[in-house]
Amino acid sequence: MKTIISPSILGGSFSNMESTVKELDCSHADYIHFDVMDGDFVPNLTFGPQFISNIRKYSNKVFDVHLMINRVEKFLDEYIKSGSDIITFHLEIDENINNLIEKVREHGVKCGLAIKPKTPWEKIEPYLKSIDQVIIMTVEPGFGGQSFMNDQINKIENMSSYIKSHGLNVDIEIDGGINYETGKLCTDAGANILVAGSFLFKQENLIEATNQLYDFFNS
Ligand code: DX5
Ligand code: ZN
Repeated sequence: MKTIISPSILGGSFSNMESTVKELDCSHADYIHFDVMDGDFVPNLTFGPQFISNIRKYSNKVFDVHLMINRVEKFLDEYIKSGSDIITFHLEIDENINNLIEKVREHGVKCGLAIKPKTPWEKIEPYLKSIDQVIIMTVEPGFGGQSFMNDQINKIENMSSYIKSHGLNVDIEIDGGINYETGKLCTDAGANILVAGSFLFKQENLIEATNQLYDFFNS
């Protein structure tokens, strides 16, 4: 099975996002991952829909937008209009999840649900028939550069076998602490999309680093 690489621009410099996105556009990565944080759902702030729509013109890659925010309903239209291809929000928010999923998909945008490390995978089960991807967080959401939590592997395996045994068409994306070694643990457990931030950005050449990671998982 193909492994999709979704580089997280959170690892890049916010003063130079145009060039980061242009570089990633030249790489083998299929997706670009956007971490939206509101300083409320997570203890950090990043950017909103205006940033995504401004940067949209610099890449044709799939814009994989990860909303780590409360009050998704209030801002959802803006994220849909921004040119996002996939919008993933968190299961832990206090909103009507089914309504949000429906709203995303009725606009032809793919929809994902994300879970934090302490959230059991079974909580996503009722929604699996109506979503396109799950994001299993392998760090506490909020910051790049944290260490991968090995105790999440079991969750990936369980999610993957449930999805397979029920014939569902849902991608499993893993977010947090991904490198060659941890990425391999995830793909062995059944994941097919890997988000990578600091691991790629700390290397000298972003395009080469992204291509090498892609080739490692797809050769
Ligand atoms: C964490 C974010 C991740 C993060 C990944 O809250 O959702 O996407 O940027 O970064 P690394 O790969 O550095 O863990
Ligand atoms: Zn993310």
